[in-house]
Amino acid sequence: MCGIVAYVGEKEAYPIIIEGLKRLEYRGYDSAGISVINGDLATFKCKGKVSDLEAVILDGPLHGNVGIGHTRWATHGVPNDVNAHPHLSGDGNLSIIHNGIIENYAPLKQALENLGHVFKSDTDTEVLIHLIEEVKKEDNLSLEEATRRALQKVVGAYAIVILDKENPHKIVGAKKSSPLVFGIGDGEYFLASDASPMVKYTDKVIYLKDEEIITIDLNEGYEIRTIENEIKKPKVLQIDLKIEELEKGGYEHFMLKEIYQQPITIAESMRGRINAAEGWGKLGGMELHMNRFLNAKRIVLTACGTSWHAAMIAEYLFEDLARIPTEVEYASEFRYRNPIISPDDVIIALSQSGETADTLAAVKLAKSKGAFIYGIVNNVGSTIARTTDSGSYIHAGPEIGVASTKAFTSQLTVLTLMAIILGYQKGKISEDYYRQLLAEMESVPTLVSKILAKADQIKYIAGEVRNASNALYLGRGYNFPIALEGALKLKEISYIHAEGYPAAEMKHGPIALIDMYMPVVIIATNKSAHEKIISNIQEVKARKGIVIAVITEGDQTIKEMADFSIEIPNIAEPLSPLLAVIPLQILSYHIAVMRGCHVDQPRNLAKSVTVE
Ligand code: M6R
Repeated sequence: MCGIVAYVGEKEAYPIIIEGLKRLEYRGYDSAGISVINGDLATFKCKGKVSDLEAVILDGPLHGNVGIGHTRWATHGVPNDVNAHPHLSGDGNLSIIHNGIIENYAPLKQALENLGHVFKSDTDTEVLIHLIEEVKKEDNLSLEEATRRALQKVVGAYAIVILDKENPHKIVGAKKSSPLVFGIGDGEYFLASDASPMVKYTDKVIYLKDEEIITIDLNEGYEIRTIENEIKKPKVLQIDLKIEELEKGGYEHFMLKEIYQQPITIAESMRGRINAAEGWGKLGGMELHMNRFLNAKRIVLTACGTSWHAAMIAEYLFEDLARIPTEVEYASEFRYRNPIISPDDVIIALSQSGETADTLAAVKLAKSKGAFIYGIVNNVGSTIARTTDSGSYIHAGPEIGVASTKAFTSQLTVLTLMAIILGYQKGKISEDYYRQLLAEMESVPTLVSKILAKADQIKYIAGEVRNASNALYLGRGYNFPIALEGALKLKEISYIHAEGYPAAEMKHGPIALIDMYMPVVIIATNKSAHEKIISNIQEVKARKGIVIAVITEGDQTIKEMADFSIEIPNIAEPLSPLLAVIPLQILSYHIAVMRGCHVDQPRNLAKSVTVE
């Protein structure tokens, strides 16, 4: 994880780096630091957020036109001032920021200690900068050449940027498995974990590839080489990212903004892909490979966290509508359990960030076995998007709140559309049902707006259960994964322990937990299992649990049974998760705010998990 940003140009580096770090804080926020070249190498760092770093730099902003900054999510060494980045070489001339993990840091550290190096921190990063220093001194090499040779000795993942006090106009960056974007402005250059710190200044970027090293010199321009010393001339891309998309836009939190954006973002994920009146749905990336999908013996979806919940719903969708055997795998398990993968399989990788290390590793594994890999990704140009054979972007726009909301509904929109198209093309659903589903898909943004209009009612319920220590989420069929997602949303931002279960499984264990203090959120919109859900609610009520039911509009029976109910519009069952998740997002948000939690940056988490 971690966010890194670097600037070389004519402007003051400090404000650009600080602003850039604030944009990258979603990647980690347990400590922050900055180095700026100003004759000397001025380095400040501390435990805490970027705002804490600003407070540490008491004498006002640092001056200098070349600098690097870092916001950390700890891997090696607890979050404290010493372990914060940047880290300096032994002689204090070099300063490094790093996102990733140096796996062989222990033997490297031992070898360096044998040569007399002394380390101040517990980090793998400090080992790396001492290694570069050692290689540089040994053969009197340039910084870029020393970096290239040092990286040949390194096992692990890295996006790094290094400053050299003796070369004040130059920075060197390199990447492997962690992202690094190079921005080309007017007489100025940027390096960062994503494009957000540079979008104010340029829309021209190069996404560096693994094992590429970039040298940026204010006077001489830039040069990219591979670790094998081959010169590369990558294409400069133009990105379409607007600064407003990175701001809260009047909302108190990014999460709230993103919840409220969903009518628009769901519509964006369908734009140009569906026309119910004309009776067609299409996804460009899928059309190009339709035979792979139609002849797939099996679809395997792989993802992590909330994306994994979207994948679970896709299992229900693909099997129900298209009758294609489908499996869902946690990317981290898939990666390490020696799975059976054949060239007839279609592997679908889901990731909002497109950078999740476990998902990327799963993609690479499946690719090595000859399977066809389809990506469903939000972040355009991200590593997973570039590694898959084909795919569909979800077009949700930047998601900055750590808790995923709009990306989830956009992933679901694309997956639902895929299942409808495949079901129809395989002759598994009738023309009438196909057209009905397309029409109902088109109505989803309006129906989501209707649910958002009930936010005050949901906020009231949040107030009634805000002090709970535990919560249970129950759902059946299509809405079982929504129960999992509701529980994840609550626990990650409010720190209330919550579990999601298939409603019928409750009686096999979790029922023992239910008492008068336990809120039980039941997604009770299923038409196919309405009676069964009613029985589950009775079972909870009999144990005095507090029932919060998400019901279909007009469901008087459950409304009268539940302590609290939230009505959502009627919709075809396969589409119901798209609506049912919205009240659960709002509920978690308000509970977290009422408990005084940091909604956008929950403790111990980061938006993009780029370590395995
Ligand atoms: O970027 P990705 O979709 O690959 O991220 C996967 C998970 O890390 C992510 O969904 C995480 O679980 C969120 N914090 C959930 O809100």
